[in-house]
Amino acid sequence: MIIISRIGYIIGTKNAEKGLFSCILLSEEESNKISKVQEGSYVYVKAEDEEDIIYVGVVKDVQVINPQVNDEGMQFWKDRLRELDHAYSVLSLTEYKVVTVHLFCSYDQEKREIVPIISWISPGTELKLADETLVDSIILRGEDGLRVGTLAYLQTEPAIKLHPDKIIEDSLAIFGTRGSGKSYAAGIILEEFEKYGTPCLVIDPHGEYWGLNQLVKTNAQGELEILAEQGITVNVVYPGQLRDGLTAEQKYTAIGFPPRCIKEMFERIQECDNLFLTPLQINFSDIGLTQITSLVDFTSTQIETIETIWNRITDNYQNAVFDPIGFFQYGLANDDIGRRTENALRRKIEIINGLNIFKDYGQRIVDKETGEILWPENIHDGSQYDTESLQMGHFGPKQITILDVSNPELSEPARLSFCASILNSVKDMMRKEIFRGLFILAEEAHRFAPIDQRVPTKSILEWFAREGRKNGAGLCLVSQRPSGLDRDIISQCNSKILMRLTEQADLKVAADIIAGDFRHYIDRLPYFQQGFGIFMGSASFLPIVIDFRERETNSKFGETKKVVPDITDREKSVAVYQEEWKEKMKQYS
Ligand SMILES: Nc1ncnc2c1ncn2[C@@H]1O[C@H](COP(=O)(O)OP(=O)(O)OP(=O)(O)O)[C@@H](O)[C@H]1O
Ligand SMILES: [Mg+2]
Repeated sequence: MIIISRIGYIIGTKNAEKGLFSCILLSEEESNKISKVQEGSYVYVKAEDEEDIIYVGVVKDVQVINPQVNDEGMQFWKDRLRELDHAYSVLSLTEYKVVTVHLFCSYDQEKREIVPIISWISPGTELKLADETLVDSIILRGEDGLRVGTLAYLQTEPAIKLHPDKIIEDSLAIFGTRGSGKSYAAGIILEEFEKYGTPCLVIDPHGEYWGLNQLVKTNAQGELEILAEQGITVNVVYPGQLRDGLTAEQKYTAIGFPPRCIKEMFERIQECDNLFLTPLQINFSDIGLTQITSLVDFTSTQIETIETIWNRITDNYQNAVFDPIGFFQYGLANDDIGRRTENALRRKIEIINGLNIFKDYGQRIVDKETGEILWPENIHDGSQYDTESLQMGHFGPKQITILDVSNPELSEPARLSFCASILNSVKDMMRKEIFRGLFILAEEAHRFAPIDQRVPTKSILEWFAREGRKNGAGLCLVSQRPSGLDRDIISQCNSKILMRLTEQADLKVAADIIAGDFRHYIDRLPYFQQGFGIFMGSASFLPIVIDFRERETNSKFGETKKVVPDITDREKSVAVYQEEWKEKMKQYS
């Protein structure tokens, strides 16, 4: 049911081809709805000759006009306004508003479908304010979905429900400056996907997402309280290795590159059963030929050599896994490595091996399925290797798997290789249709798919952006520097959320993204408050501004540390610093 609320009349056409009409608004006495009308408000008019058809539009600008304030009037009022309070009320008598409305579609209320605008709109036609039901069924497409927040700038604030399939189908990019609320919003989207049971994978270079396992509430004092009830099941996967004979704590902290927040995670694990830590090593052979050659600066001769060895292995063995040194040894044994390149290539392969993230196969080539040694052929000592790296068991319905690559000692090439290998394994699993659906979120996307630079993760992310949807995988890229992100990947993401952006270079990218009549949103981007974002994509009929809701889970691990203990009390701040310092000194002396 649409409640009629007349706010004014069409007075003329601005540009009928573009659907632009001027409307005069009724004065406040006649309709108190008028104060609600602002740029971005949704409105409609009824078609003249068709019963069920309405034309739906959006207010593009609002002008307040007062005939008393023309050039002559200005001088008159300027002199009087200073002296006379009543002048205001006299002025307001002749004041009225004219808005420009962009009518962009017509809607058949009976059939509930959107049809092209066909008939002429006469001056005098009543303009009405669209209510929540109408906005929901047309702008938001009327379906249930990811409840991420409300429509901003409207007083009724209809709830936004983004269709999860459309988000997966489109691939999503979230752009915004530092602190604009990207990760917070991404966390909300993860919370919402989890409610549908969709498994999620997060690439987390800051180690900030694992708080999704804690349900929280802000109390009356504005402090964050962790509820007894548990949040989402979270599996934190990181580059590392389990060894026998260690205490539980040693097991997780001693070997490999544990997450930045490993201490807090370990404490949390003692008191909950929905947080898991999974140290994992990857197969060198899983990162793929093109990715390997982008790991170190190889010369073109060296790249050719690597390709020859790679092709020889894949020609000879169907299901081979190997470590970097084994790969090199195989090349040597088959005379694929020339005398002159041998030493230089060996050094580079050793650098790759030294990243300390690859499984060690004792310089052998091993069958991936059986774990048996394939090469050298004369070794039959019965040893069998565990060749699994990432498995289906690391994922789950209603579970978020986090690739935590936040350890500062992890070098950037190791970080990228680790993620590339895991994404490649996921791709294999998707192709085998092990998953029904998977939502993949990559933070700091400009590091994983930089513009004009070859890195191990780039081609696999491109695959997910381009082909993922056919296999049920949706990609979401988060970045504070869209101008540093590969343009092809950006163009593959058909849904976008733009949060506050201030850099000229980034605003240029945004200008390319926001189409046609909604360009004026660009001017607002630098002033967006935290948690506001323009959404464009097939989940809504028009670009909309989302006011993201509050998080249900703990987002504090992504927050900036407070440097000033009390902003209003300088002395207290100094005292807190001094006290903490004294305690620390005791520990270290
Ligand atoms: N919708 C929101 N409601 C309430 N607080 C929010 C909202 N969005 C963001 N915030 C606050 O803003 C802070 C910064 O947000 P967030 O960490 O998501 O920024 P970011 O864009 O990811 O920044 P960075 O580029 O540094 O990662 C959060 O810690 C949170 O407190
Ligand atoms: Mg962030």
